[in-house]
Amino acid sequence: MIKITVQGTDWTDLGTFDAKKWETIMATAQANNVEIPFSCWAGACGLCLCYIIKWWEYINKAYTNPSFMELDEDQVLTCIAAVKDECFDEADANMEIVLKRAI
Ligand code: FES
Repeated sequence: MIKITVQGTDWTDLGTFDAKKWETIMATAQANNVEIPFSCWAGACGLCLCYIIKWWEYINKAYTNPSFMELDEDQVLTCIAAVKDECFDEADANMEIVLKRAI
């Protein structure tokens, strides 16, 4: 099971949910009532930017399309990003990805 925890800017936990294969982090967060700001849903506005606190290597940052913004290694636009498909196939996939909202 792959869990995703989203933290606010003050490091408080806003919620934890199961990652879903073939679904963006933003879509899964919304389905689980975990609020991440958004506007464009296209990787252009930057509102959904989060810092990857844990397990950055398991995130495909350009799942639906490339970002229109330049991102640091620890930054992700959750509207276009998803957990890498192959992570769901790993027998020992049991991790908690931690993201911290930028705003
Ligand atoms: S909602 Fe605009 S970049 Fe993600």
